[in-house]
Amino acid sequence: MSKATALACSNIAFVKYWGKRDEALRLPLNSSVSMALSQATTRTTVAFESRLCQDEVAIDGCAAPALVRLRVVRHLDRIRQISGVAQRARVASFNGFPPDAGLASSASGFAALTLAGTRAAGLELSAKELSCLARLGSGSAARSIPGGFSEWHAGSEHESSWGEQIAPPDHWPGLRDIVAVVAGEPKPAGSTQGMALAQSSPHFETRLSLVPGRLLRVRQAVLDRDLTSLGEVSEEEAIELHLIAMSSRPPIFYWRPETVAFIHRVLAWRSEGLKVYFTMDAGPNVHMLCQEESAGSIVAALEGMAEVQQIIVNAPGPAARLCSGHLF
Ligand code: DP6
Repeated sequence: MSKATALACSNIAFVKYWGKRDEALRLPLNSSVSMALSQATTRTTVAFESRLCQDEVAIDGCAAPALVRLRVVRHLDRIRQISGVAQRARVASFNGFPPDAGLASSASGFAALTLAGTRAAGLELSAKELSCLARLGSGSAARSIPGGFSEWHAGSEHESSWGEQIAPPDHWPGLRDIVAVVAGEPKPAGSTQGMALAQSSPHFETRLSLVPGRLLRVRQAVLDRDLTSLGEVSEEEAIELHLIAMSSRPPIFYWRPETVAFIHRVLAWRSEGLKVYFTMDAGPNVHMLCQEESAGSIVAALEGMAEVQQIIVNAPGPAARLCSGHLF
């Protein structure tokens, strides 16, 4: 059986995925839209080998922790089931961004694992099939398979819940997502755990009723390269994701004091005429959406802030792809 290596970008959602209709199939309660992040990539090599008695999983040069390994092994089992391959696999994965940066490594990780794993098992799946399969590993990975600007159609069963590219990266090459990493402490709850509580928030249904209108606005904003409209929806969605987390039972506070300070900073910049908007994942770090021409002054300002530990400047990134340069 051959060895295969794949590279995939993480992504930042403009309209968020926060709540599942089906936990086992990772079917979301709403469709979502994201941009692939050019500087947040995972490279993964997979080889099925008859000499192995169990799957070997290394991430960033170390044996994967038990729970992470279990999630990877379950995904390899899915690949074994559809391909008929019985051998155990050796998996090595490297993230091209720091693990504590708060970027979604499960999106890039499961997208790269799906592509490399299926190829190593001798399968040639379509982009849609790859996206459905990646979704079973981690929901947001469904959008990292198509890359660029993509929409994950919520769907109603396994085959109809997948990520589709709505515009390629070069449709809006000047859009930037700048991540200011403020806190290296572990998050209070992972996305899977946090999302499981989402429906206990009294605000959950309200947000869900607003999502269809936001999807329309975001799709149009991407097609028109309209930063104002994209930024407005992204801020509404980021605030409401955290509103739901904070009002879940029990509540989850992903924000740190620095998160709030950053939101104020972005609002102040905007009132001074700089076109910049914020969004966030389920973590304390703030992502800033702007055009290429504003990125320099934002980065310069961030470099002067003591609380900023790292700055990552992303352009729209490509689809997951096979590559040479095996990791073993
Ligand atoms: C806040 O895809 O990490 O980033 O399906 O349980 O693995 P699982 O969750 P995951 O959730 C991502 C949540 C988010 C919003 C988003 O990316 O849409």
